[in-house]
Amino acid sequence: MNLFNIQGHVVVITGGTGVLGREIGKYLAMESAHVVLLGRKEEVGKQLAENIQQQGGDAIFMQCDVTDSQSVQRVCDAVIDKYGKVDALLNAAGGNMPGATISPTGTFLDIQIEEFQKVLNVNLTGTIIPTQVFLKPMIEAHKGSIVNFSSMASFRPLTRVMGYGNAKAAINNLTAFLANEVATKFCPEIRVNAIAPGFFLTNQNRALLTNPDGSLTERGNDVIRQTPFKRFGKPEELCGTIHYLISDASSFVTGTVSVVDGGFNIFTM
Ligand SMILES: NC(=O)c1ccc[n+]([C@@H]2O[C@H](COP(=O)([O-])OP(=O)(O)OC[C@H]3O[C@@H](n4cnc5c(N)ncnc54)[C@H](O)[C@@H]3O)[C@@H](O)[C@H]2O)c1
Repeated sequence: MNLFNIQGHVVVITGGTGVLGREIGKYLAMESAHVVLLGRKEEVGKQLAENIQQQGGDAIFMQCDVTDSQSVQRVCDAVIDKYGKVDALLNAAGGNMPGATISPTGTFLDIQIEEFQKVLNVNLTGTIIPTQVFLKPMIEAHKGSIVNFSSMASFRPLTRVMGYGNAKAAINNLTAFLANEVATKFCPEIRVNAIAPGFFLTNQNRALLTNPDGSLTERGNDVIRQTPFKRFGKPEELCGTIHYLISDASSFVTGTVSVVDGGFNIFTM
């Protein structure tokens, strides 16, 4: 018996065109899952799905906005039409936004409420809506795994990214809430966990952590100093934890937040 077998599993990834989502999608397709990449950028998404197909994996792209229930419901209906089921949902859409970041010389008083609400909306509401929608076929099938995307900012507030940290802290709380809600009101074979990546150089944090010439900013240096591994993570280093969380290898695991951070979160001095 292979506890990690995900052959033929239908895995839906929101933020599937993002740096982390696309790497995870490629890996899962190579493990013989049917991967559905969701995102807003149709051209990028179709190209990514094509690349995966050329490498022998099964992946398709569907366009949707995770903050729009109707848009997510449409793609869920299309997934059910095509595959008849959804085994796993990875809520990877999200991230920080420049407008919601306090400038190096700014303070809490400068936070623009509209920008703050946007970051909450994409990270928190944008996790709740796909979960509401894709949970229904999982309930019908009495099986499923949902993985939310948290962050280091969820455990201890990081300077400058207050809205993002608030949203990700809420993701941890939501994950625990949902794990119980789903197991007790629907069925214990549907599990809800989260992954908390440490620092991976991607579009949303590149400007915060590195200068245009590639050297580290003061903040980038702070992160490395605080990371026992003394480096940023590589997107592919999230794949093992995701694989575990969506497979039967974690059949008694729910409500957890799995940290993948080179030790950032446990560092004290
Ligand atoms: N990169 C990191 O170091 C890091 C660390 C911790 C957590 N995370 C989290 O991991 C997840 C993926 O991050 P990433 O680094 O791949 O970021 P990314 O910006 O490369 O990808 C995020 C994706 O979400 C999509 N998205 C944003 N708003 C959307 C909407 N309304 N509807 C549909 N799609 C939308 C974007 O288009 C993008 O493709 C995010 O939730 C992020 O907060 C990232």
